[in-house]
Amino acid sequence: MRTRYDFDNQVVLITGAGSGFGKLAAERFAAAGARLALCDIDGKAVEVVARQLEAAGATVVVSACDVGDPEQVAAFFAAVDARFDRLDVAINNAGVSHAKLRLHETDLAMWERVMGANLRGVYLCLQQELARMVERSSGAILNVSSAAGILGAPFLSLYSASKHGVIGLTKSAALEYGRKGIRVNALCPAFTLTPLVQASLDAAGGKSRTNLEVGNPMRRLGEMEEVVQAMLWACCDDNSFMNGAVIPVDGGLAAG
Ligand SMILES: NC(=O)c1ccc[n+]([C@@H]2O[C@H](COP(=O)([O-])OP(=O)(O)OC[C@H]3O[C@@H](n4cnc5c(N)ncnc54)[C@H](O)[C@@H]3O)[C@@H](O)[C@H]2O)c1
Repeated sequence: MRTRYDFDNQVVLITGAGSGFGKLAAERFAAAGARLALCDIDGKAVEVVARQLEAAGATVVVSACDVGDPEQVAAFFAAVDARFDRLDVAINNAGVSHAKLRLHETDLAMWERVMGANLRGVYLCLQQELARMVERSSGAILNVSSAAGILGAPFLSLYSASKHGVIGLTKSAALEYGRKGIRVNALCPAFTLTPLVQASLDAAGGKSRTNLEVGNPMRRLGEMEEVVQAMLWACCDDNSFMNGAVIPVDGGLAAG
């Protein structure tokens, strides 16, 4: 039986909530009683998620927002402030990957796209979230990094660099804000069958899924639910002394 979490009345903000982990997390936090602030660069997708949750009784603020754009991020948080007087939990989940290429074949446009979403996006959201949480001296933030934020990732060097950067921001913020009662942790999933991974498997074709499965100590890909349950646990009030942690949810991949 699945663990029951209680986020009753808490305000939970999730970026990249239009798809994959972010969408399922929005559903699970709503089912645990949270009020939600959701954004995604794909405004239509996140709007659909929000309408479904509202139909099931949740309170949701929703915005189309590119997390790498400071003005759009400021507008999203202003919309959150207009509706809610607190921010309890933030999950900085929005992210992109890139085509598998050797490092010398990548270019600056790719760098800007990946760093913009994955690293500048987490930075800009963290600034807004911490400023609000400091006022109430409480909060839990979870940054979605990756196994590629712990390990090097051949042919995904820019993605790996961005996710290593997320861990640097996480650890530094944990050290700065722990005394304010704010916990900041990083979650590091490995290959899980979300639309992001499905798209790269489709592009790679052939035996790529089998290769990924064989390369994992548990000989399989992750399930979205396994990652989202770790999100709930990482952010729940009972998990009150975990701060600055880098949490692999990867079948043991990063242990090797
Ligand atoms: N799926 C995996 O195996 C895996 C493994 C490790 C880490 N991750 C990380 O998990 C997070 C979620 O990935 P997913 O697999 O659910 O992918 P996904 O593509 O299904 O969802 C990502 C969402 O983020 C949104 N997004 C992208 N760029 C954005 C931006 N600049 N501003 C706002 N929203 C933006 C997308 O529109 C999409 O809805 C990402 O940070 C990803 O790097 C995924």
